[in-house]
Amino acid sequence: MTDILFVKPALPRSGALVLPLAEGFTLAGLAREADAATEGAVTRALEAAGFKGRKGQSCTLWAPGGKGGHLSRIVAIGLGATPDARTAEAAGGAAWPLIAGDPEAFIATDGLNAALTAAFASGARLRSYRFDKYRTREKAEDRPKLVRLSLASATPSEAKAAFATLSAIADGVFLARDLVSEPPNVLFPEEMAERCRGLEKLGVEVEVLGPKELSKLGFGAMLGVAQGSAREPRVVVMQWKGAGPASDAPPVALIGKGVTFDTGGISLKSAGGMEDMKYDMAGAGAVIGAMAAIAGRKAQADVVGLVGLVENMPSGTAQRPGDVVTSYSGQTIEVINTDAEGRLVLADLLWYARERFRPRCMIDLATLTGAIIVALGHEHAGLFSNDDDLAQKLLAAGAEVEEKLWRMPLGEAYDKLIRSDIADMKNVGGRPGGSISAAQFIQRFIDTREGHVAWAHLDIAGTAWATKDGATTPKGATAFGVRLLDRLVAGHYEG
Ligand code: BES
Ligand code: MN
Ligand code: ZN
Repeated sequence: MTDILFVKPALPRSGALVLPLAEGFTLAGLAREADAATEGAVTRALEAAGFKGRKGQSCTLWAPGGKGGHLSRIVAIGLGATPDARTAEAAGGAAWPLIAGDPEAFIATDGLNAALTAAFASGARLRSYRFDKYRTREKAEDRPKLVRLSLASATPSEAKAAFATLSAIADGVFLARDLVSEPPNVLFPEEMAERCRGLEKLGVEVEVLGPKELSKLGFGAMLGVAQGSAREPRVVVMQWKGAGPASDAPPVALIGKGVTFDTGGISLKSAGGMEDMKYDMAGAGAVIGAMAAIAGRKAQADVVGLVGLVENMPSGTAQRPGDVVTSYSGQTIEVINTDAEGRLVLADLLWYARERFRPRCMIDLATLTGAIIVALGHEHAGLFSNDDDLAQKLLAAGAEVEEKLWRMPLGEAYDKLIRSDIADMKNVGGRPGGSISAAQFIQRFIDTREGHVAWAHLDIAGTAWATKDGATTPKGATAFGVRLLDRLVAGHYEG
């Protein structure tokens, strides 16, 4: 863990010094002092490297001499043409791997305001995430060494306060990344429910439903998925009541697919890459992380999170292709393909969420279809919604936090794809438009008999896991959705 401090500007005499510079910069403040102390070495290095301050640009000057003491390195990092919270955060993320080898680093953010300084610090922290609990033989020299990261600010207490909020959000991101990274033998439904209990210390009310309660309720769609596994299913309901007693607004509901491992069931997946299916609980992970972020920063809103936790396994007790199950809504489903299990879990959860909480809006997150990866790659998650206003809010929130969404269509013609000959619907609609027919399936479990309810479905199959580093997301679990949901709540459902 790295300590992050906000201090008055003063040139450090050791460790790494980072100079965040915007396009068209002239060296000022600490950057100018550093240049003078090194007898112009900074200017010469930036010129030699062709450093212009562009986004993504960096230049490292090792062990500069002069009166500057014994700095190990000076790192210039580009802020782009118009520095804002997003570019400051990305620059902080880009700086992290360039300074993590030093025990101490000092960031010359003296030219940035408190909000941008905090954003820079937050970007570095988000990028610093590592899941290393199962590495028992890693050499100390291969681990990051940074113990103290100091950021210069004209108003350190203001920067510190802004960072406290961002830090609570990052805690939610880290929680989600931890959950998604855990191997499936460690993180099964019961264990994941246990980890949700950890949110109680943030003031979240946590309620766990087991198989007895779920069969009594009639969660037939979800239990059909669970029945092949030796591991018991769980539903966890998490409530954050931050709006205060004066508020009579209904809560925002967040719903997550939590398949702790998806073998496909009897419709077994092929072996290649099956290990990836440990992250089939990333929707639930994002909901849990978002609840932690929202509670951690004491959001003034009522938010309820529901996650459906199951393991999809083939066995003598597993459901068969051809089975017909009765969902919590009463609608029957012909299970054509046991690998289309996520929608079966969401079906019961969504109906239950609407019935119990009458939410002002409901948003589900799920690693639902391989088809969304074919459509959108790893750049955008698919957004499906019955409500243009909610869709716009989500698109905007996603753009603000670099968790980008792309809206996909819904419609009668796609709904026809899931008609069944023997039940109310079947659970697959064929390969063409596979993500859309999956969304249509889910929409059938949004109960609008008593009026419209704004609902959105985010298919995060392509964005939950990264195979290469991003600015603030080291490769691996991204926690996609945590910051998006937090921003949505902060922007529209508070106060
Ligand atoms: N969990 C998968 C979807 C998935 C694929 C997530 C790749 C992340 C990466 C989901 O349960 C699934 O198996 N979907 C099937 C649906 C099909 C049987 C209609 C798929 O996408 O192939
Ligand atoms: Mn599946
Ligand atoms: Zn799945």
